[in-house]
Amino acid sequence: MKVITYQRYGSPDVLEITEQPRPTPGDDELLIRVRATTVSSADWRMRSLEIPRGFGLLGRLAIGIRGPRKSVLGSELAGDVEAVGRAVTSFKVGDQVFAFTGAGLGCHAEYKCLPANGAVALMPSNLSFEQAAALSFGGATMLDYFRRGKLRSGERVLVNGASGTVGSAAVQLARHFGAHVTGVCSAANLELVRSIGADEVIDYTQSDFTQSKMPFDVIVDTVGNAPFARSGPALCRGGRLLLILASLPELLKAPWHTLTSGKTVIAGPAAERPEYVRQLGELAAAGRFTPVIDRCYPFENMVDAHRYVDRGHKRGSVVITLGSSGA
Ligand SMILES: NC(=O)c1ccc[n+]([C@@H]2O[C@H](COP(=O)([O-])OP(=O)(O)OC[C@H]3O[C@@H](n4cnc5c(N)ncnc54)[C@H](OP(=O)(O)O)[C@@H]3O)[C@@H](O)[C@H]2O)c1
Repeated sequence: MKVITYQRYGSPDVLEITEQPRPTPGDDELLIRVRATTVSSADWRMRSLEIPRGFGLLGRLAIGIRGPRKSVLGSELAGDVEAVGRAVTSFKVGDQVFAFTGAGLGCHAEYKCLPANGAVALMPSNLSFEQAAALSFGGATMLDYFRRGKLRSGERVLVNGASGTVGSAAVQLARHFGAHVTGVCSAANLELVRSIGADEVIDYTQSDFTQSKMPFDVIVDTVGNAPFARSGPALCRGGRLLLILASLPELLKAPWHTLTSGKTVIAGPAAERPEYVRQLGELAAAGRFTPVIDRCYPFENMVDAHRYVDRGHKRGSVVITLGSSGA
């Protein structure tokens, strides 16, 4: 099978198409023929080693000191079950599924084996492979952060970076949980952010959201330019700042801000739980969450897809298609 691998950190040119043996599922595993996957901001970070300020050494320890320990990127997929292990009863050959491998990666391949009881679920019938592949990266991140941030119906939520993968999931899921949502993005994306459910939108080139007259209960920062020093005053008492992207100093200061300010700062990697994938499938089937797709590239054009993601201004997700992927 064809697999996209990389052996050293750098520009998209470090990526190569290689041939590897097709994996064989263990007793508790599914073999999935991948029909679509994504190039996420995590793939960009792990390929380029562009990691948030202060995480240099920790990043290398986690990803690989001299070169990547995991040579195949990609954290989400959609595809067909090609084979099942002897002990698998929950899926059968031919099922259409989507999955989130998270930090386990390995989705930029024609086939992938995954535990049947892991973060894999039947694909909602109203989604294409492209949409299903893009459900999990932003969706699971925001389900986890909203759970930790105890988001409640009726609260005022601000999403900074509302047009990206995580931001567009945050807007839709906050709306689903009954919040009043304000999205911050550039002028070109105001209409998109409104169309996915934001009640109000702010163009960051024209206004500074921290000067809003009404304070927010929850601020979600997916951009990394709204740390507590800037966002704290825009939060009401008891408010929560969800730093999806935080520098190491911000991460370390979070408990102190929480202890001393009457507000809560939450940062760090989102937990990866299989139930998030099932929940996202249910929300998508009910029309409550539809991933935003910027553009699709064929598998063979993975380098071009990475180049596009490297620019840092994608709208939702960049999807990679394999074979004829329309569901
Ligand atoms: N903590 C975790 O577990 C976790 C999980 C997933 C992702 N992340 C991190 O979260 C970050 C966002 O991920 P993503 O996948 O959503 O990235 P993305 O899809 O590339 O989105 C980034 C968005 O930021 C917007 N943006 C850029 N400059 C801005 C500014 N000054 N003000 C407001 N918006 C601005 C861009 O919109 P415009 O084009 O409109 O400028 C773009 O849509 C990444 O750094 C990623 O590493 C963390």
